[in-house]
Amino acid sequence: MLSPAPSQCPSITSREQFRSDVLAGLRAPQKVLPSKYFYDQRGSQLFDQICELPEYYLTRTEVGIMEEHAGEMGELIGPRSMLIELGSGSSMKTGWLLESTPLPLCYVPVDISGEHLLEAADRIAEQFTDIEVLPVCADFSAKFELPETETDIDRRVVYFPGSTIGNFRPEPARQLLAQIAELVGPGGGLLIGFDLAKDRQTLEAAYDDADNVTAAFNKNLLRRINQELDGDFSLDQFRHQAVYNESHSRVEMHLVSRTDQEVRIGKAQVPFSAGESIRTELSHKYRPDSFADLVQSAGFAPGQIWTDPKQLFAVGYYPTAS
Ligand code: TRP
Repeated sequence: MLSPAPSQCPSITSREQFRSDVLAGLRAPQKVLPSKYFYDQRGSQLFDQICELPEYYLTRTEVGIMEEHAGEMGELIGPRSMLIELGSGSSMKTGWLLESTPLPLCYVPVDISGEHLLEAADRIAEQFTDIEVLPVCADFSAKFELPETETDIDRRVVYFPGSTIGNFRPEPARQLLAQIAELVGPGGGLLIGFDLAKDRQTLEAAYDDADNVTAAFNKNLLRRINQELDGDFSLDQFRHQAVYNESHSRVEMHLVSRTDQEVRIGKAQVPFSAGESIRTELSHKYRPDSFADLVQSAGFAPGQIWTDPKQLFAVGYYPTAS
């Protein structure tokens, strides 16, 4: 059952917002680009390819954990729930969970990439005809409205897979989790995937694969700037780099200028020196106890976690604290 879905996704951020975010980022001492701009149609497709890479253990491992434990998770979520998935993308991890959660159930996928979202929502609605599917096109890091449901709902649970929480620094992560606690309210819950700290080699390979798919994904940001903001980045003049910063327990993604160069974006000029980088993404890695501290500081009760035999990745369920 698919909702009367919006036939098109309202443009989330205007071009002017995109321009001012890009220019502000590129004028900072450490140049940065906001990672939410990765996910246009092409970026979302490249990200789907990343998830299939042999080096990118995260998706495969998380899906394995879901496959193994979806029964227990579905029981915890329970019937008459609204399951809200943040950054649902292609909803590739959701099948096992939807299959295992008792009906009636309402599924609300939330994503910034509109076409991608609606395609995935259609697919899910066709596959799970008893579930009410209500896609919401939104930037989940900002507040958004939940849709009206036909189904009577007793509980809201946010499903936040993919270790996307790791893409936020500790304090913004805590704020986002607190916002989620508020969204689901008392009696609600959070089912969340997070990546575990491990050896450098495994981590760096996961973010810099042999086929350069991740490099193409990273550079897609520059391609978007060229296309949408009249930029003249030469993609060959930048190199993709992924480094594990152990003291912050995070992988950092950069685009490193190969030469001294000036890039034009519309009427603006941005100088780069050789070796200077634009930081495009952070991906934090946790220990189970450090993650528990984080969710509890945001208003959740101690929950439980599931992991894989090699302890590469974890999924936790946390009820809101009463
Ligand atoms: N949430 C994903 C992660 O941190 C996002 C991601 C995967 C990513 N590969 C990337 C972001 C490469 C930027 C560049 O694992």
